[in-house]
Amino acid sequence: MLAYLNGQFLQEEEIRISPEDRGFLFADALYEVIRTYEGRLFEARAHWDRLGYGAKALRFNRTDFGDLGEVAEALIRENRLNQGDATVYVQVTRGRAPRSHAFPAPGTPLTVYASARPFHPKPSALDGIAVILVSDQRWARCDIKTVGLTANILAHQQALDHQASEALFVRDGAVLEGTHTNLFTVVEGTVVTPPRTNYILGGITRRVVLDLCRELSIPTVEKPIYESQFREADEVMVVGTTMEITPVLRVDGQSLRSRTPGQITRRLQKAFRDKAAAAETSP
Ligand code: PDD
Repeated sequence: MLAYLNGQFLQEEEIRISPEDRGFLFADALYEVIRTYEGRLFEARAHWDRLGYGAKALRFNRTDFGDLGEVAEALIRENRLNQGDATVYVQVTRGRAPRSHAFPAPGTPLTVYASARPFHPKPSALDGIAVILVSDQRWARCDIKTVGLTANILAHQQALDHQASEALFVRDGAVLEGTHTNLFTVVEGTVVTPPRTNYILGGITRRVVLDLCRELSIPTVEKPIYESQFREADEVMVVGTTMEITPVLRVDGQSLRSRTPGQITRRLQKAFRDKAAAAETSP
């Protein structure tokens, strides 16, 4: 597969990244995963903006990544991923420098890497998954999409080990988000999602779902979802670039109140598919 590194398109096998890269040494790096539908990037601008937000928060020496739109499109085209679905992965690190906690010299170029892969969603997931709840062991800046995902990986594997598909993080009694998804519930016709704080990622699918609710005149509220409220909700969903809108039917081995995907979940899934199908390529 053709990939991209620092201004050059190369076969992946030819890519060389230094062992002194700060992404490797410190996980001093940001990433994005972007979906394509039939070759069109979905919500690309929002992904570049979030990368810029993270770069500002981490004090990177570059914070505008809009030019990666063309890179992502080239990777889709050149790897013949125009038909069907794909993901583009982008990672930006603070660059290469001898290991030191101090930032490298100001002019040190960031490392910018991008690749593309065919994506095969699990259709059965859209009919409902099981999740587990885990205590949130992550750092306190979950709003920054860094590659330091050790806690997410451990929690996700714990879910798989318990025949579940996702783990949801709980902090101070509130269910916040999944290891790679945001959380929604439906309570008496109102769609509920935790507010954007430093403890969750400002998910792009999350924002799309809130927009769709507005278009469909479904009331929404952004407020904490405590564990008991989560268990009592009429409908539960996790959403994200790779999971789209996925109903949650079981938690910790027990059925939730909603044993089948709810009516609002189904309406949102349909509206989401329509929006993805109509997506224009936006750089
Ligand atoms: N993860 N929360 C976390 C912790 C995430 O890692 C992700 C996405 C989301 C959903 O965000 P979005 O809708 O912008 O994809 C929420 C990506 C897909 C990943 O790590 O593979």
